[in-house]
Amino acid sequence: AILTASTALAQGYPDRQITMVVPFAAGGPTDTVGRLIAERMSADLGQQIIVENVGGAGGTLGAGQVAGAEADGYTILLHHIGMATSATLYRSLPYSPQEAFDYVGLVTEVPMTIVARKDFEPADFAALVTYVKENADTITMANAGIGAASHLCGMLFMQAVEAPIVTVPYKGTGPAMTELLGGQIDIMCDQTTNTAEQIKGGTIKGYAVTTPARLDIFPDLPTVAEGGFANMEVSVWHGLYAPKGTPPEALARLTQSLQSALADPGIAEKLAELGTAPSPATDATPEALKAKLDAEIARWKPVIEAAGVYAD
Ligand code: MLT
Repeated sequence: AILTASTALAQGYPDRQITMVVPFAAGGPTDTVGRLIAERMSADLGQQIIVENVGGAGGTLGAGQVAGAEADGYTILLHHIGMATSATLYRSLPYSPQEAFDYVGLVTEVPMTIVARKDFEPADFAALVTYVKENADTITMANAGIGAASHLCGMLFMQAVEAPIVTVPYKGTGPAMTELLGGQIDIMCDQTTNTAEQIKGGTIKGYAVTTPARLDIFPDLPTVAEGGFANMEVSVWHGLYAPKGTPPEALARLTQSLQSALADPGIAEKLAELGTAPSPATDATPEALKAKLDAEIARWKPVIEAAGVYAD
């Protein structure tokens, strides 16, 4: 019998290397998650997943590149909460976040930390809030561009302390961390996948976590709610996407491979060291990712509109 294309695809997919676009610079938190799962999925798929960092415009350049890529199963995108916030922040995106992609599944949900260069004056979170209120125009805060998780958290922080801080955008919080370590930038709100090692090592100062409860790895770091700012709570969920129209057999194989990677004890252990955990198999599904994206677009739209912060 003549093999139908989909049968051939199912039996043969993947038959060559896959590109995973990470829409932020190498060395940052999104890149860390991307490379961790790409390596494990490659072993499962029997083909190499190559990570391509496409930074800029808060992740929308990389997302746009995948939205326009060949929908053949050989280009995928790792993105996070920024896919949802960009839908409101950008009034003229070259792609529609809710129509341009097929869904593979949720990957992980990462806490954020408010951090500063190690010799920053304030001793604790309360002192930081007071200090920022009084010195907002001389303090610099890094983010990864409008649409980044660090941008969202920074926006929430500025709303909470009611102080407009000078923000400096980077192509990712990997490069931003380099300048924080060097003391060229004062503060940042970034994911534990990028800050945990540095906080543990004392090379930067941790002030608070943006999760409802304190983190096991940082029992002494207060939550933003303890500091009086419960509306600053935000965790950075990550999802794996493919261009719309990717063959269903390829998507199914990618979901299966993602779930096998997330079930790997080594992945869970590494993510735990970085303050997070793999998404459960019930969330590492196309349906769960689509539901999460739709809900998060609806959740952040009014918050962004109230802040009046847009990328034009
Ligand atoms: C973000 O702020 O969205 C991420 O930290 C960007 C990155 O992964 O570099």
